[in-house]
Amino acid sequence: MTIDQNQMKADVLLGLQWGDEGKGKIVDVLTPHYDVIARFQGGPNAGHTLKFNETKHILHTIPSGIFRENCINIIGNGVVIDPVVFKKEIDALEKFGFDIRKRLFISRKAHLILPTHKFLDAASESSKGKEKIGSTLKGIGPTYMDKTGRNGLRVGDIESPKFKEKYTFLKDKHAQILSFYDFSYNLAEVEPAWFEGIELLKSFTQIDSEIVINQYLNEGKKVLAEGAQGSLLDIDFGSYPFVTSSNTICAGACTGLGIAPNRTGEVIGIFKAYCTRVGSGPFPTELENETGEQMRQIGAEFGSTTGRPRRCGWLDLPALKYAIMLNGATQLIMMKADVMDGFSTIQVCTSYNYKGEKISYLPYDFSPELLQPVYTEMKGWNTKLDNITSINDIPSELLAYVEFIEKETGVPVKIISVGPDRGQTLFRNNTEKVAI
Ligand code: GDP
Ligand code: IMO
Ligand code: MG
Repeated sequence: MTIDQNQMKADVLLGLQWGDEGKGKIVDVLTPHYDVIARFQGGPNAGHTLKFNETKHILHTIPSGIFRENCINIIGNGVVIDPVVFKKEIDALEKFGFDIRKRLFISRKAHLILPTHKFLDAASESSKGKEKIGSTLKGIGPTYMDKTGRNGLRVGDIESPKFKEKYTFLKDKHAQILSFYDFSYNLAEVEPAWFEGIELLKSFTQIDSEIVINQYLNEGKKVLAEGAQGSLLDIDFGSYPFVTSSNTICAGACTGLGIAPNRTGEVIGIFKAYCTRVGSGPFPTELENETGEQMRQIGAEFGSTTGRPRRCGWLDLPALKYAIMLNGATQLIMMKADVMDGFSTIQVCTSYNYKGEKISYLPYDFSPELLQPVYTEMKGWNTKLDNITSINDIPSELLAYVEFIEKETGVPVKIISVGPDRGQTLFRNNTEKVAI
């Protein structure tokens, strides 16, 4: 394919915190402005929630543009797919009457999560005891290990006459590794569902997504890459080892879709008005008190994938700035402002006390013994936001909060989200209309 230098660039939307920022909702809101939505990394560890017509949908593998009729959705090469979860998602969508076969394409190069990958995940976690990562146990780490170890099975292998043989070879290899753990499992119980999922996958259009996406860009189509997890869970830059196993940052969209760096356009970074984290690992602004519990209850902060309670805390600006730097975020979206409605004052972490010194960056080791947050107090808005429909009607304290974040980060906040529904979305410039 010849490269058209004037081709469109793909925008990238991703989480700037520890995941669950509200990516699913916003991708759904923005989809009418795009022709193509493409997931580029992660897998069923993700849980992306959308709400419209009083109904909530949770997607794990399928991109969040799937509910809009004229949009093509692509599962990119960087994604890892569990056929069992995929089938459940498809069944749920079909139950709602969504005919998605014509608008969902899957990369041949995406890797498959085997049942034994999930056992390996569980065995590894249980062997770590208190040091466990807090994985979603969806087999993500072991599948990416097999990918980089050059042992993995890919969607494109399904059509091969040697597929069964390749599967058995890998499964046996996993059984050997599992024998080193004190871990029991029943493969026969879960294998049939996996092969049912494989049959379903066969019925979907498989593509060389890197070629197709670049072709779309050449044709002037608008592409949005949808991130999973969050920048602080990135395998290289997150709080290692308490991270996921893929590059969640903008660079991951290049490798996970085959888009060259100079073909990426706007980088839209999403963050909550506060912070959450699910699973283990350091979280400087965590509130293990009443206030944290209040955030969890009001914000319904329970995992979309595992149902686990999410840890909650104040907004952490040095961490946010770090994520903005890694991604080159050109615009920001602030989610869940409504959760802070009842707080008379709001704390924002603006620097850290690190080994007795004041710093404003995230150091290598930010465990609580070494690093404590330093807060700036702001006035709360004490106003219900969820019924506000115009950006002009937001309380002055909320505007001050947003402007403070813009000043600190140097990046404009383009959208403020005030509820889980599609419609509860306020555009700063007032020009954008949300299709409901
Ligand atoms: P994702 O993984 O980034 O897509 O986020 P999740 O779906 O895991 O978690 C976000 C949660 O917040 C979901 O339950 C959403 O329905 C909900 N949500 C999204 N935006 C808002 C908002 O502005 N206000 C409130 N109260 N809830 C929201
Ligand atoms: P979305 O896309 C929040 C966390 C897990 C764990 C760590 C490693 O919905 O924002 P893994 O299963 O990848 O081995 O888990 O990463 N984690 C997430 N946390 N949102 C997610 O996805 C997550 N995906 C993984 O809780 O701490
Ligand atoms: Mg989520």
